[in-house]
Amino acid sequence: MEGTKPHAALLASPGMGHLIPVLELGKRLITHHGFQVTVFVVATEVSPAQSLLLQQATTPHLPNLVSLPVVNDSILVDPEASVLEQLLSMVRGSLPRLRSAISAMKVPPTVLIVDMFGLEAFKIANEFEMLKYVYITSNAWFLAFTAYLPVLDKLVETKCSDLQEPTRIPGCKPLWVEHVFEPVLDIKNEMYHAYMRMAVEITMADGVLVNTWENLEHPTLAAMRDDKLLGQIVKAPVYPVGPLTRPIEPTDSENGVLDWLGMQPSESVIYVSFGSGGTLSAKQTTELAWGLELSRQNFVWVIRPPMDDDAAAALFTSADGRDGIAEYLPDGFLERTKKVGCVVPMWAPQAQILGHPSVGGFITHCGWNSTLESMVNGVPMIAWPLYAEQKMNAVMLTEELGVAIRPNVFPTKGVVGREEIATMVRRLMEDSEGNAIRAKVKELKYSAEKALSKGGSSYTSLSHVVMDCQMMSR
Ligand code: UDX
Repeated sequence: MEGTKPHAALLASPGMGHLIPVLELGKRLITHHGFQVTVFVVATEVSPAQSLLLQQATTPHLPNLVSLPVVNDSILVDPEASVLEQLLSMVRGSLPRLRSAISAMKVPPTVLIVDMFGLEAFKIANEFEMLKYVYITSNAWFLAFTAYLPVLDKLVETKCSDLQEPTRIPGCKPLWVEHVFEPVLDIKNEMYHAYMRMAVEITMADGVLVNTWENLEHPTLAAMRDDKLLGQIVKAPVYPVGPLTRPIEPTDSENGVLDWLGMQPSESVIYVSFGSGGTLSAKQTTELAWGLELSRQNFVWVIRPPMDDDAAAALFTSADGRDGIAEYLPDGFLERTKKVGCVVPMWAPQAQILGHPSVGGFITHCGWNSTLESMVNGVPMIAWPLYAEQKMNAVMLTEELGVAIRPNVFPTKGVVGREEIATMVRRLMEDSEGNAIRAKVKELKYSAEKALSKGGSSYTSLSHVVMDCQMMSR
């Protein structure tokens, strides 16, 4: 029986933001589409949070999980290398192991699915005559932007960031340069060239999966299907298969934050978190603490030491980051807020928190996984983008979907003051404006559920991938 199932090999590049959606795709292929799945995880060192996630993923949904140690990790000790360079070279360094793991299989998998940073692995899929798909773990707008970069490249002579007018990508709202992450717009920057390469490599794919759904981004997806519009650029068929997010699994042990949430009134708590690695400056941390206190709302804050404070930053690598929290928060903050607030150092069970009935708002860095987790739980947001494509996500949430509010100036441009933070939190949690936003995000929650259900748009999209694989297996 096992032998007749199509076999998908999934490659997850390093980082929780990639691993989580890749694992969810793997689970869905198994549970809804009868696949056999092997997930290859590029790993140099596994954090405790990652290790817990992998443990949870293996039983009972994902039988085959293979860790790929990086063969040549010299780049990791290069202090000059950017995060993207490190990421790409870690993936490159893991490819020899991927090749030998696949060649050791009696029959190679039918399809190799990589995330955007794993595109170099396509050459291995070619060697073993496998189908090759890329899985964009962000949204269709971001895919459109990346695919469009070579067109933009021809339009500008020096820096894309010199563009005075917004870029009009077919099917997408106008994109202002200030909403794009800077290095990718600078011809002299290594990141620009890496994204240009990715744009070309995406066109080599047999299919592109995107962690979005049809109703959320219909105009962009429609433009990608149109050969006169984005279709001629992306080339490969595009399949919206999301939102693939972690389910809310019951925790069997006591958990401080969930126990605390259990004692709060319905939708009364604002959850504050900046993703898998986001940190704030010392000044911004202080303002945020005051802002939360002044808002007089209940809160859960996943707190990390500010990276521009050397003593505090050192705590980032200490056991659990709990030591020294009081040192970098305003004097007496923990004491004064102990009845209304729950501060969690470093990492919290976010899927459970956002699914908890006591949570009524989310201050988020707009990483796409966090954004989707908020939407599928009907939680309205305050958009606080930090890096990567997060400013674009924030613009989509505020200007297009109306499910978030944002500071007057994005936090990447300066410090958001305590009064503004307190006002935003109250607008979201107490005002009629917040209720209207809440109603909109709940509509998205139902639209997402519909897309994923049998016969829904995302379910059907993934069925097309299954058909391609079945044809290939014959
Ligand atoms: C970055 C990008 O911003 C994102 O858009 C891209 O798609 C992947 O890389 P990241 O900072 O990892 O993202 O954030 P996000 O995409 O939101 O993913 C973080 C994941 O870690 C979420 O699933 C979140 O639930 C989980 N998480 C984070 C926790 O479970 N606990 C925490 O304390 C923090």
